[in-house]
Amino acid sequence: MALRTIVKEGDPVLTKHCRPVTSFDERLHTLLDDMTETLLDAGGVGLAGPQVGVLRRVVVIDLDEDGMLELINPEIIEQSGEQDGMEGCLSVPGRWGMVKRPNVVKVKAQDRNGDWFEAEGEALIARCFCHELEHLDGHLFTEKAYRFLTPEEVETMGRAEEDEQ
Ligand code: CO
Repeated sequence: MALRTIVKEGDPVLTKHCRPVTSFDERLHTLLDDMTETLLDAGGVGLAGPQVGVLRRVVVIDLDEDGMLELINPEIIEQSGEQDGMEGCLSVPGRWGMVKRPNVVKVKAQDRNGDWFEAEGEALIARCFCHELEHLDGHLFTEKAYRFLTPEEVETMGRAEEDEQ
């Protein structure tokens, strides 16, 4: 495993549409392992392919005690409710904004061997599903934020929500 460099806002790779993964091979597994290591090192919740310069539809999400979730070619298949909260991004360091998201999101995706499965997330994980999948279509949370927060606001809104994606 190896750490990859996290691409920052302003790099055109973050605005591109990612292609589906078609080969579930060693190269993909190395990418996923590297993305996990990079995400854990950065202390974020989620990381998408373009954030390490790879224009493929891959996402890793840290589910905390439930381990890492790997989503290959993910699609949202159901969503409900609404949440309104603070959001950040490892590719947009130091900026936080308020973004409205569905509160429950179900995705279907392939695992590293190409098998399809479904996963449901709520609250932070639902937010993360939306945020990461938008990376795969070249979009950043900064386009969705209806208000950006001052450092003081970020501090007072509580560190519980402070995880970057
Ligand atoms: Co992000």
